[in-house]
Amino acid sequence: MTTTREHTQQDIAERTQNLRNEIRRHAYRYHVLDDPVISDAAYDSLVRELEALEAQYPELITPDSPTQRVGAPPLDQFERVEHPQPMLSLDNAFDAEEVREWRHRIGRLLPEDVELEYTVEPKIDGLAVALTYEAGVFVRGATRGDGYVGEDVTVNLRTLPSIPLRVPIPRGEETKEQRGRGAEGQRGRGAEEPGEARPSPSARPAVLSAVLSVSKGSIEEGPRTPARLEVRGEVYMPIDRFRALNRRQEERGEGAFANPRNAAAGSVRQLDSSVTAERPLSFWAYGIGPVEGVELRGQRETLDYLELLGFPVNPDRRLFDELEAAIQYAEGWIERRSELNYLADGVVIKVNSFAIQEELGSVGNAPRWAIAFKAPSEEATTRVREIGVNVGRTGVLTPYALLEPVQVSGVTVSTATLHNEDYIRERDIRTGDTVVVKRAGDVIPQVLYPLKELRTGDEKPFEFPAACPACGERAVRPEGEAAWYCANAACPAQLIRRVEHFVSRGAMDIEGFGEKLAALFVQVGLIGDVADIYRLGDKREQLLSMEGFGEKRVQNLLEAVQASKERSLDRLVTALGIRHVGGIVSGTLAQHFDSIDTLMNASEEGLAQIEGIGPVIACSITEFFSREHNQQVVRKLKAAGVNTERQAEPTVTAGPLDGLTFVVTGTLSRPRREITALIERNGGRVTGSVSGNTHYLVIGENPGGTKYNTAQEFGTPMIDEDELLEMMEG
Ligand code: IVH
Repeated sequence: MTTTREHTQQDIAERTQNLRNEIRRHAYRYHVLDDPVISDAAYDSLVRELEALEAQYPELITPDSPTQRVGAPPLDQFERVEHPQPMLSLDNAFDAEEVREWRHRIGRLLPEDVELEYTVEPKIDGLAVALTYEAGVFVRGATRGDGYVGEDVTVNLRTLPSIPLRVPIPRGEETKEQRGRGAEGQRGRGAEEPGEARPSPSARPAVLSAVLSVSKGSIEEGPRTPARLEVRGEVYMPIDRFRALNRRQEERGEGAFANPRNAAAGSVRQLDSSVTAERPLSFWAYGIGPVEGVELRGQRETLDYLELLGFPVNPDRRLFDELEAAIQYAEGWIERRSELNYLADGVVIKVNSFAIQEELGSVGNAPRWAIAFKAPSEEATTRVREIGVNVGRTGVLTPYALLEPVQVSGVTVSTATLHNEDYIRERDIRTGDTVVVKRAGDVIPQVLYPLKELRTGDEKPFEFPAACPACGERAVRPEGEAAWYCANAACPAQLIRRVEHFVSRGAMDIEGFGEKLAALFVQVGLIGDVADIYRLGDKREQLLSMEGFGEKRVQNLLEAVQASKERSLDRLVTALGIRHVGGIVSGTLAQHFDSIDTLMNASEEGLAQIEGIGPVIACSITEFFSREHNQQVVRKLKAAGVNTERQAEPTVTAGPLDGLTFVVTGTLSRPRREITALIERNGGRVTGSVSGNTHYLVIGENPGGTKYNTAQEFGTPMIDEDELLEMMEG
């Protein structure tokens, strides 16, 4: 979060101190209690703010600052294990540029002509452990603890089927997990991709010879047993097993875990190992501590060696000799990570050569030779500068927060919705509060909750205004509704929103007509209702007299308005802005009614019987058309020559998507409406939410969480746009 200039030194010192306390509180819940109350992303965001403040004001750094420490001290219930080599943490990069900056920083410490190789590995979100093997036998397992001293959890780790008790695992004695590709693998497309499966020794002669040279074994014998070996990796819980475990926990009346990472951590740190044994835990090795009896020269060689010994190693690891290629792979992997059956919060990019790693060393808690390239987080923390109220096209007054700008999912967010009065009141969100904001998929950013511990006393509670902020008319809150409305049907702010919506891409799609023109034309009185858009041609002279409106611009605008008269019936229905009637519902309506007139005359009961409509939408439609003002707008639109009839389209009786129901989520390469039309032309159906009857979820960029999660629960197959097109072709 950025700090504004007007903050005084004292404010900053107080903020720094408050942040430290808050971070400690959450770190304790996370590391010690395995029961966090805020997301990792929100936590990271607080740490980042503290780091930024400490970088700007180094005099404020204290030795006990959470930025100076890794993890948490070990619990007393367990024996302590001192790590022979500290288990470090990683510095983060939140975008490609920060990865390049990391390369630049380390470049200054290395000879100019050095050519680096990089490994890219998934950053698995679980619990870091160190496994010690003596003469090939598993003798001790420890948690990371504070990086220097961990907890002895040997008996618990012994219960994990994916952790070998003896290495190399003799052939034929691997457990199912060890024989598979890593511990709990992927699902969906990734798993079947050619070349993605666990490579057989003969398929990778170059790697194998490297490994043999260090382990002095042979293909037949396998790698030789190291005298001493410490393997480091992550214990984690596969997502599907985590869900099943939580269901069981709830059935038994026991608390559910916040996320798979906490479930894994809580399961390993059990005093009774029979509880751990019941928990579906897996393991992935990502590195080594001290070793004797083998010589390993780099990260890639090490991971291949560990795999040969019988440890599960992530199959998505790659080696690159160009940073840009590594970044490209990392970005692609991060984008696809939601298809996996385990949590990963990014990738780790490491300098491959151990010699160069040693030369680079570490600074603070983190090695210089590695960087965690974090997935863009959907949540962050920032401060509320002001709370305002927006007027929607139906007169609904929606409160929003003006925020100090913050990056969320790779986008700068400076406003977020606060939904309604009750939402603010229930969460007690105040001006000046530090809040957690979320931007999930294509949804508008929202303020989730305030971090009350960070309050200074200067925060101001919000009073919902008694009048519309745009026209000053009385605001009303109908009984049983959460929303306040502006009672003025002629409120200019409402009209501006209606015009904006009418001309938008998903509706009448009038090119060159946007938010600014809508506001301008309403303000100067050119437009009194949406139908007046089609009378702009009569006001050519007035338009030409306005600043910034030359002959050409006016001509283009009027042509675009004229062209929009031919839009289809479903777009017109969308454009009217009836509550609950978006593109999909309009499409359904346009299939059942051949003109706007027949729709206007439909009864509420008749409408409610149409599949995909239901009573709420039916009521909203009849209510809309019962208003004289709206009837008049429709009459004016017709008089202006706007198409109000359904064009005869060849109806598809049988197509490649016949009988299939689709739900679309996220941004695709073309507007949602076009995708819908395409699916329908091919015989398929599109609905708004996933149910047991959905055949496929089509996923675009930034998919919405609800559809995705529901599809996962139903086991609905997920496809991307290319696969959809292939289905249509095939
Ligand atoms: S390397 C000194 N590689 O991330 C290098 N860590 O934030 C530190 N993690 O404590 C570890 N996947 O628990 C490394 N492929 C990976 C990892 C990984 C997950 C965890 C690990 C570590 C934490 C650092």
